[in-house]
Amino acid sequence: MSADVHASTAANVNTDVNAGTATNAGAGAEATAAAPNRTTVLHLSDVHATVGAPLYGAVDGIRRMHAASDYAQAAGVTPEVIVISGDLIERRNEGAYPALREALLELEAAWGVPVLTVLGNHDDRDAARILPGHALPDDTLPDGTLPDGTLPRTAMPRAVHVGEWRFVLLDSSPGRLGSEQLAWLDAELAQPFGSGSIVVMHHPPLGSPLPMLARAGLGDAADFLDIVEGTDVRMILSGHFHHPLAATMRGVHVSVGPALAYHQVMDAEPGTVSGFDRSMFSLVHLTPDGVSASSVTVEHPSPLFTLSPSPADPLSPRTVRSS
Ligand SMILES: [Fe+2]
Repeated sequence: MSADVHASTAANVNTDVNAGTATNAGAGAEATAAAPNRTTVLHLSDVHATVGAPLYGAVDGIRRMHAASDYAQAAGVTPEVIVISGDLIERRNEGAYPALREALLELEAAWGVPVLTVLGNHDDRDAARILPGHALPDDTLPDGTLPDGTLPRTAMPRAVHVGEWRFVLLDSSPGRLGSEQLAWLDAELAQPFGSGSIVVMHHPPLGSPLPMLARAGLGDAADFLDIVEGTDVRMILSGHFHHPLAATMRGVHVSVGPALAYHQVMDAEPGTVSGFDRSMFSLVHLTPDGVSASSVTVEHPSPLFTLSPSPADPLSPRTVRSS
């Protein structure tokens, strides 16, 4: 996979990735080969990697990331890009970034497609600079500033072209995007690209239906939506809630992907949330006609039944096994 970085400014990098077709290695299930004009995104979120002890005594985020990757490869998924929408580490576990960096590089090598990450509220901007795509610009001066006097340690949004799609990667780690980043977004989206743009940011631009998370969405969502409305943005991929959510905001589809680390549900006491030991990811398809997202649970239970096409009538599935 080649990446041609053709523009680098104080606060953004635009990268072209020649991945317009399914070129990933090792995902060779012909039965699920990429459909024409369809781009598949393997959307992972909320890794919550830790140093030493696993989170809540059970969650090894990096191991779960590999498990999701193995599951997707075994299932014959053929992504053109992998997106991880923040909370890459658990808060105060900055020492997990080096291992996470290695894991991301392994993921990229295993699939042969770009792995794009954004930061979440648990992440640390400075410590995360060692991750692919998060390095300081080459022209940073010794005092940490850029020649134009800006501070790169603020958010560094970037746009990455994958085939005909533009992935716009935003940093909502403080809980909001902020005026500088919104201004960059406004300028970036002023020119449409190819089949359209996909925004990736940790915080969804709306609250969760779970009362505890009702106000946990992006702090400056209204300002963000004012900019996005009417542009070529076709989809917003987020995380943060640890449960899947589909929404439409100002005509743009929002897909909140489930978490790799744990799954939050609302069956606790009113006003509380329970986290369950379930690891999930989302499979996103982009086509010229529309977008879709499917939640996938990384478990291997015995199926209750299996349907396959009938040899006599391929359109009539038959039950070939039940229990
Ligand atoms: Fe999270």
